Amino acid sequence: MLSITDIDRPPDWQGAADAVARDGGVAVVLGAVDTGKSTLCRFLAHCCAEAGRKPAILDADLGQSWLGPPTTIGFALVDSTTPPDHGTEPAGMWFVGATSPQGHMLQTAVGVRKMADAARRAGADCIIVDTSGWINGPAARALKEAKIALLAPGHIIAIQARDEIQHLIAPHASRTDVQVHTVRASRRARRRDMDQRRRHRGEQFRNYFAGAAELALPLGQIGVLGTSLLSGTAAPSHVRSYAEELLGIECFHAEMTEERLLLVCEQYPQPGAIEALREQFPDQEVAVLPLRAIRGGVVGLSDAQEHLLGIGVLTDVDFKANSLRVITPVAAADAVATVTMGTLRLQPDFSELGPVEVRWP
Ligand SMILES: Nc1ncnc2c1ncn2[C@@H]1O[C@H](COP(=O)(O)OP(=O)(O)OP(=O)(O)O)[C@@H](O)[C@H]1O
Ligand SMILES: [Mg+2]
Repeated sequence: MLSITDIDRPPDWQGAADAVARDGGVAVVLGAVDTGKSTLCRFLAHCCAEAGRKPAILDADLGQSWLGPPTTIGFALVDSTTPPDHGTEPAGMWFVGATSPQGHMLQTAVGVRKMADAARRAGADCIIVDTSGWINGPAARALKEAKIALLAPGHIIAIQARDEIQHLIAPHASRTDVQVHTVRASRRARRRDMDQRRRHRGEQFRNYFAGAAELALPLGQIGVLGTSLLSGTAAPSHVRSYAEELLGIECFHAEMTEERLLLVCEQYPQPGAIEALREQFPDQEVAVLPLRAIRGGVVGLSDAQEHLLGIGVLTDVDFKANSLRVITPVAAADAVATVTMGTLRLQPDFSELGPVEVRWP
């Protein structure tokens, strides 16, 4: 990323920075893709540090993330006037599990607030929030509204070329507790196409997973979030063999509650087979989870106090060995208390494969 002296400062950037440095608190930066949001955040952090504040940058962009790997929200404390850069070790991270907030609005909103609270606890008196360039439409607006409500910023800084951010900032114009600044993008802001963005994410993942190894996490010792898998009781063996007969495939695992029957197999059964099984269990929700569809899925590994230790790639759920196998740079398997299932799948070389094809049951 650019050094501070190389950042071009359109005239209205300094005024916004002075106001943020004066007041501290939370400043949310909004803008379309490639408008220079991350650059502005680094500039704001630099100005705040120069004014004697203890700023933090909170990177709430899941795809073009630079504090922590893609799929996470991270924050870094800025303890000198040199702002954080790609590769700066985040002081805290939150796992969302996808590179876009669409379909993960709650996890994103929760994560933003959790990380802002953590930054404050870590001593930040000024939190600068970098957001994604997803600004159009009702869903994007709902997420930005939620972020603003949860963060209670004193300043909103909108990089606006024409009037594209207006629908996000107009509702706050009459508030007395937040000051809205509209600033211009630098002429030096450069566009990247979808391919470059994807390649950039691939590079981020590869850097993150350099030196990663496979961990076996004992199923009995971890909680699993993002799915109901492993929350039921083992189905009686006659239920499992009956299900195998109707599905026509082997089931590695069968669990049930009063409401549902969940079976884990290697692949999907033949069309119609699940329906035949559902007819036999009309009072329960019947779900089949094919391992083939979830291998390569990104997961978050957290300790017993909900701190994200790192992310990993699921390689197997091994019911014979009773363990979850994950490739991760996290070294201490003992420290992992919960695993959160994401929805993005990676290839063995850590490039993106696409979303997990099944909904986690
Ligand atoms: N003020 C500036 N001075 C010099 N270069 C800039 C400036 N603003 C943006 N750029 C350049 O434009 C590119 C995009 O900037 P940046 O990454 O900050 O945008 P962004 O809005 O955060 O993008 P994204 O939507 O991908 O998160 C970068 O190469 C950056 O160096
Ligand atoms: Mg950015």
